[in-house]
Amino acid sequence: MPKHIGIIMDGNGRWASERGLPRTEGHVAGAKVFRRISDYCHEIGIDVVTFYAFSTENWRRPPTEVAALMKLFKENLIEADEIKYDRQKGGYILRFIGDTSAIPNELQKLVSKTQLDAIDENTTVINIALNYGGRQEILHSVKQIAERVERGELKASKITAEDIAAGLYTAGQPDPDLIIRPSGELRLSNFLTYQSAYSELYFSNVLWPDFTTDDLDEAILDYAKRNRRFGGV
Ligand code: IPE
Ligand code: IPE
Ligand code: MG
Repeated sequence: MPKHIGIIMDGNGRWASERGLPRTEGHVAGAKVFRRISDYCHEIGIDVVTFYAFSTENWRRPPTEVAALMKLFKENLIEADEIKYDRQKGGYILRFIGDTSAIPNELQKLVSKTQLDAIDENTTVINIALNYGGRQEILHSVKQIAERVERGELKASKITAEDIAAGLYTAGQPDPDLIIRPSGELRLSNFLTYQSAYSELYFSNVLWPDFTTDDLDEAILDYAKRNRRFGGV
């Protein structure tokens, strides 16, 4: 079983277009699938699941679509807070990764509230990548290291790969074992760039709003057959 699964929730727009609906309806349908898959990952005992919800490049979309997405994130967070996924119901907690300083204020407040929820060994951590970019994340970590060097706390020759990892948003979490991308695109689109060095990749043609727990099972079964060598023999 993978300990950490990354999921690129892609294909919402195409799903809506196929039905003659506005793209935002695809995002609404995609958010429901996000909740279903989160519940299921907790049921089957996955430790960490990272969902790619909004990339640093997604600001290039029309302002109306961006606004609709932010509204949807807010509604989902309020709902998550009301039913207390973390303790009583779902047994999972939400964490946010990405530069959340650039998202609307109201959403920022909800995000910081979730960061207070405690983790125990039965909790599934659901990372939501919001205004997330893998390159930007590495840059953010490198700047922190450079500041330590400037202050004379660290010698440049002593910087390790662990120092870089420790400055990432996922610090302390295992790297993703499996990254799933539905919708037929064969790329990572700036998702978990540093952490995915040895991830197993799984691509599927299903559009995210159509993605089911059976599709997830299929991906995990495929993963179980892989031979991970990490450079060894
Ligand atoms: C993923 O679906 C959702 C976000 C990127 C926020 P898309 O909106 O990218 O859907 P397609 O790729 O256009 O079908
Ligand atoms: C990746 O999907 C980002 C998210 C799913 C949030 P995109 O739809 O933005 O990726 P590209 O543009 O096809 O690479
Ligand atoms: Mg897309």
